[in-house]
Amino acid sequence: MLQSPYTRYQRLFVYHLDLPTIPNLDDPDLIGVWIEDNTAVLFFHRNKDALVAELCRQYACTLIYQADLDYEEWEVGHEIGSFTAGSFRVAPIWEKSDADIILDPSVVFGSGFHPTTRCCLELVDKYVRAPELAINSMLDLGCGTGLLSIAAAKHGVKRITAIDNNPLACRVAETNCRYNKVQKKISVEEQDLRNRPPRTAGVDLVVANLYRGLLEELFSRPDFWQANLYILSGFLKSMEPPLLAALPADKLRFLERTRKDQWCIWVVAPRESVFLQG
Ligand SMILES: C[S@@+](CC[C@H](N)C(=O)[O-])C[C@H]1O[C@@H](n2cnc3c(N)ncnc32)[C@H](O)[C@@H]1O
Repeated sequence: MLQSPYTRYQRLFVYHLDLPTIPNLDDPDLIGVWIEDNTAVLFFHRNKDALVAELCRQYACTLIYQADLDYEEWEVGHEIGSFTAGSFRVAPIWEKSDADIILDPSVVFGSGFHPTTRCCLELVDKYVRAPELAINSMLDLGCGTGLLSIAAAKHGVKRITAIDNNPLACRVAETNCRYNKVQKKISVEEQDLRNRPPRTAGVDLVVANLYRGLLEELFSRPDFWQANLYILSGFLKSMEPPLLAALPADKLRFLERTRKDQWCIWVVAPRESVFLQG
């Protein structure tokens, strides 16, 4: 995340260590740490070879890889700037603007430049604004920067739980909620959905922009399908067959099935959903 004196991201210095915990790093150039499969990925604004060598000595760990790259390269060639999706104008925190949503995209997923984020944002905008649905609660599974939750909160959704297993994503999402003054409506929870599946009963909208393996696990759980509406993404067209096979097809109705680039986005409602009655 951005911390004073930094006001934007330029060059990223990335160190991947076989370290299963986050060391207590009080470094002014630290952007954040990911914990992934019992390893730690450290992100800095500056070269930290000496610090990392010291960490390796102190914790008896090794450097798996290191890289330094421009922020645009990290964001797959996009210069991160403001953009419009649905009724929202979204801007990075370093742009002085009157955008609807201000975001520190940090180094977690959800800056808005990936087709799945953009499409989910447009669909959240569309369904949350539909007066006949009256969506009051939402689960954001794999919240990343928190962008989708913030969008829903801005349109009046009152109770939102945003879940991610990446501690850095949770901290970034909490910070973005505060930037957008919606922290009272959004509870950010650090949770691994593989170990603790979400509780969807009584929830109006579930947004899950995840990945194929985890979606397949969730889809095959009957208790996953207790919410009223689902926006689902994070998989390519070639991955659709096993995901379709994991769905309880007789209990669901597809409301939309679209694609952006090669990415798929589904909007699905259980046949018993209150949104399909009447
Ligand atoms: C494709 S990104 C989506 C981020 C954001 N919602 C968006 O639409 O841009 C998926 C997110 O899911 C999180 N994630 C991956 N596996 C997870 C798990 N097992 N439990 C919880 N979150 C997970 C990742 O850390 C990442 O932030």
